[in-house]
Amino acid sequence: MITTIFNRLCRQNINNNMISKSDVGNLEKQQQEQQFFEVGKVDEVPIGKMKYVEIQGKEIVISNIGGKFYAMDDRCGHMNARLSMGNISKDGIVTCPFHGARFDATTGKKTKEAVLTSSQQMEPLPKTWQNYLEQAGQLMSYIRTYDQQVFEIQAEGDRIKIRV
Ligand code: FES
Repeated sequence: MITTIFNRLCRQNINNNMISKSDVGNLEKQQQEQQFFEVGKVDEVPIGKMKYVEIQGKEIVISNIGGKFYAMDDRCGHMNARLSMGNISKDGIVTCPFHGARFDATTGKKTKEAVLTSSQQMEPLPKTWQNYLEQAGQLMSYIRTYDQQVFEIQAEGDRIKIRV
């Protein structure tokens, strides 16, 4: 259905000289490149759990929230830790295991900023380490936490498929 509408719009736009045939060819190529890939079985991701998959060079975390599947980039938008190694709440908030940034698995939106604190119970560090950590802290203060990319996901029978 979508493809039919797409093709009709393309024909109209070609007739009106709004886009060229090569533009249409490029759009069709992009559409074909964004295919669904089978990434596992439905029962491999129980309700309230996450699963890591790598497909077409993309690292993705699949989550099952109340029986519905979602997929987003597995690498944290803060400093690249694997979100699939963190936790997920019942309402689909994923907490990064590294600095605790949180993301809504249904939208990929950040819901809580990362927290960078040192433990007050640490033994005093040698001066060279203190200097190093102070410099690292200054550099890290400019690091931002970005929203996560989300991917289209569907359950077909007992299979899970993701469009990348
Ligand atoms: S890497 Fe995820 S919060 Fe820092």
